Amino acid sequence: MNKLHMAQPIRLHTKTAPNRIVYHPMECCDADERGDPTDLTLERYRKFAEGKPGLIFVEGCKVTKESHGRIRDLGVEPHNIKGMSKIVDTIREVSPGTLILFQISHDGRRSGSFSRVVSVYPTGDPDIHVLTTDELVAIEDMFAQSAWVVEQAGGDGIDFKTCNGYLGSEVLRPANTRSDGYGGSFENRTRFFRETVDKMRKRVSNNFILGARISREVIPGGVGSSGSDSCEEDLSEFVDFARLMEQERMHYVSVHVSNAAYFAEKWVQMPTNKNPQDVFVHFRLTRMIKEAVSMPVMGAGYSYLGNGKNKLTGDKPEMKSFTYWAEKNLEEKSTDMVGVGRQSFADPHFARKILDGKVDRIDYCRTCQDCFRLVTHQERSGCVVYDKRYKESYRLLQQKQRSEKDNRGSRTCT
Ligand SMILES: Cc1cc2nc3c(=O)[nH]c(=O)nc-3n(C[C@H](O)[C@H](O)[C@H](O)COP(=O)(O)O)c2cc1C
Repeated sequence: MNKLHMAQPIRLHTKTAPNRIVYHPMECCDADERGDPTDLTLERYRKFAEGKPGLIFVEGCKVTKESHGRIRDLGVEPHNIKGMSKIVDTIREVSPGTLILFQISHDGRRSGSFSRVVSVYPTGDPDIHVLTTDELVAIEDMFAQSAWVVEQAGGDGIDFKTCNGYLGSEVLRPANTRSDGYGGSFENRTRFFRETVDKMRKRVSNNFILGARISREVIPGGVGSSGSDSCEEDLSEFVDFARLMEQERMHYVSVHVSNAAYFAEKWVQMPTNKNPQDVFVHFRLTRMIKEAVSMPVMGAGYSYLGNGKNKLTGDKPEMKSFTYWAEKNLEEKSTDMVGVGRQSFADPHFARKILDGKVDRIDYCRTCQDCFRLVTHQERSGCVVYDKRYKESYRLLQQKQRSEKDNRGSRTCT
């Protein structure tokens, strides 16, 4: 019997994840124009399934064509049921026990200009449409419809994206001062969430898992700040929101830290050699939530740790590794599940190798951030270090950027 804490099953509502390793949602920009998965998308999920994690989150799928942050985002509208079921079947064929939750999102202000950029509250940019009350309520219905779509496609449940600056988190911010009952007080800012969850529940069966990803946003007026334009940290509402999720009978909470913006250079949400200690920001916040609720809690930010040969303070790699911190956090009940994002790109078989103790065979994520750069430039994404296709995509992207820079330079000179 495998004695690792990570190897122990865990109950999520009526279903059981066979182990405690989660592959977090990772948007890759490789759907087709209808928002259905392409062969490339399916290949990625098949490889994830070969890793046999306890749970796979399918990347942020969009509740409407009008809310796509990426040109080739996955969609989760009624016409996508067949496409979504292909993802489910692909994973189940290889790893029948792995739970499959689809993250559903309205990208709001983070939608691309090719889609429709909208905001919950005025941004100062007159070109960004501020949603009317009717439009906001219609988006609640879209989320409910998407939950239904996921169940029709055979998914185990959904992850309501209330993190990272997308619409579900924008509405929660102290910066949201709308006066129509959806902004201002905490009660009003959480109305959209509560109404949406009620609507989802009416459209899915009792077995269906409902959860959400929440994030402390490192921006003034963001979730976890003390006022509408404050940069001071105040996590009381962040914790209260997790409590509210539990009151709303959600089945788990996934905890994240976010810059809530693409332009940020210091990636708090993704620890790198530039900000290694930010892994502990993730761990502290996750523990804070874990202490406040009794539903299962999932943590993030683990990819940086790798085999312990990293820039965290301390001499002993074995006390700085993924296995060390995952086991410690689970043992101390600082989290119920541990999740990786970028590491699942670097080595999709990561979970199986960790659980089998084959840690020397893992291709460890170098946290170079090139996968993220590809996505932010609307390119299909994957691991640039270990997968030749993405290495080549990244080379072409750099080439394009250099020539655009040269063209701009020559225009300025003339
Ligand atoms: C290319 C890329 C795409 C991502 N897409 C999503 C997404 O769709 N939804 C989400 O909540 N987070 C997304 N994230 C964040 C990851 O899920 C994860 O939380 C983050 O990378 C930190 O975990 P890690 O240190 O294990 O990589 C993405 C990150 C990257 C690098």
